[in-house]
Formats: sequence, structure tokens, C-alpha cells
Amino acid sequence: MERIIDGEKLNVPEHIAIIMDGNGRWAKKRFMPRNFGHKAGADALEQALVDADELGVKYLTVYAFSTENWKRSVEEITGIMNLIRRYLESAIPKSNKNNVRVRIIGDRTKLAPDIIKAIHNLEDATRTNTGIQFNLALNYGGRDEITRAMRELAEEVKEGKINPEDITEEIISSRLDTREVPDPDLLIRTSGEERTSNFLPWQLAYSEFFFTDTLWPDFNRNSFIEAIRHYSKRDRRYGGVK
Ligand code: FPP
Repeated sequence: MERIIDGEKLNVPEHIAIIMDGNGRWAKKRFMPRNFGHKAGADALEQALVDADELGVKYLTVYAFSTENWKRSVEEITGIMNLIRRYLESAIPKSNKNNVRVRIIGDRTKLAPDIIKAIHNLEDATRTNTGIQFNLALNYGGRDEITRAMRELAEEVKEGKINPEDITEEIISSRLDTREVPDPDLLIRTSGEERTSNFLPWQLAYSEFFFTDTLWPDFNRNSFIEAIRHYSKRDRRYGGVK
């Protein structure tokens, strides 16, 4: 969508996905523990949602905890889970006030029971909100998501509900955690790493990528504008010719 932002005409992506990387290094630079960085990262995320909404983004999807993050220390995992708890608890009134719909993607069955309950309550309470759609990836892994979708389809084939020859890309998309969400137009990864790390492998097939050295806790409105400017210059052809 074309928008004038701070006097500049920009093409704002409908859907932005973000790999919020660099919290640990941000804390280390300040001689602080890693969880101090995650707290700053959670604050940056809260502001990013406000900024994305104000800039005209319709969907924001962020990677908060991956299926691989369980390999971190118990102390770090507990710290991140407590930030997630705090967010889930406070998000209902805030999201309703700002008309934000929240969805959680990933395998929630492996999360703590109180977190599963809070997810259910938050999704339910914000289901009819029509403003920005916020998707939080918790215990998310792209290959895990595809594996779960394939199992579901295999069950349907076994039960005779669907024929193998009727399985299309649309059917596969409709079994993923992101079933109600269009594919991201732009992926942002902070902290200088240039990988997608099992984040939305199916959905990012045609997305533009923007990598920045900014560490996630330092990511702000100007960083967003820089990413959107980069996106505005791209010419998306989806494999065709224009
Ligand atoms: C990557 O930085 C960050 C994470 C794995 C965790 C992201 C979590 C948050 C931003 C907090 C989530 C909070 C809410 C409210 C949902 P890193 O630790 O890998 O940084 P490093 O590469 O510098 O070590």
C-alpha cells in the first residue's frame, strides 16, 4: 500500500515477519545477563507492534521462541517464558483497546499448561478485532509446522476425506498454523545474521528479505522505515516477467 511517511512516498508491505535477533549481544555489550537483553527485546516488540500499526502494516509475525531454543540454559528459557507469561497476561485489555487480533503459531502443546490456557484466552478475546493482526511464534519451527500439517493430511487421506491427487499448494497452506494469514511480503532479521533459521520456510517462498546490523532491542520506528524503504525499491515478479 502506497503511503506518505514523514514526507516520503513508500510502499508499505501488508505483512512483515521479523526474526528478533541480538538480545544476548545487546546485553553482553552492557555487561548484563542475557535475560536483561530479552526484557529489552520484549519492550522493543511492544513498541514495534504500535509502530507497525501506525505505519499501515496489516500483519506482523514475530519469532519469539523456536523449537530449537529449548537447547538454551534452563535459566534463559525460564526468563523468556516469564516474559511471554507477562505479555499474555497483560495483552487482552491492551489488544482490545487497540483493536489488535493476536494469534499464536507453533506447537503450543509442548508449552506449560498456564501458558496454553493464557494463549487460548487471548486468542479468544481478540478474535473479532479488525486492526493489526499480530502473530507470535512460540515453540515454532517451520519444518515442525509442515510435519504436523502433513500428518493431518495423511490422516484425512486414510479416513477417505481427501484424495492424494486433490492435495494442492492451497490445501497445504490451509493446514499450516498460518492458515488464515497471507504470506509475508517482507522478512526482517536483525543483528547481522543472514539466515532464516526455520522461520516460515513455506510462507517466505516469495518474500523480500531485509537484514540489518541493528540489535533487536535497538530496533525502532526509523529501523522500520529503513526496511520499508528497502522493500519499496524492490520489484516483485513472482517468477514472471513485468
Ligand atoms: C534472539 O536473540 C532472541 C530470542 C531467541 C528471544 C526473543 C524473545 C523476545 C524478544 C522476548 C519475547 C517476549 C515476548 C513478550 C513475546 P539471541 O538471544 O539469540 O541474541 P544473540 O544472538 O545476541 O545471543
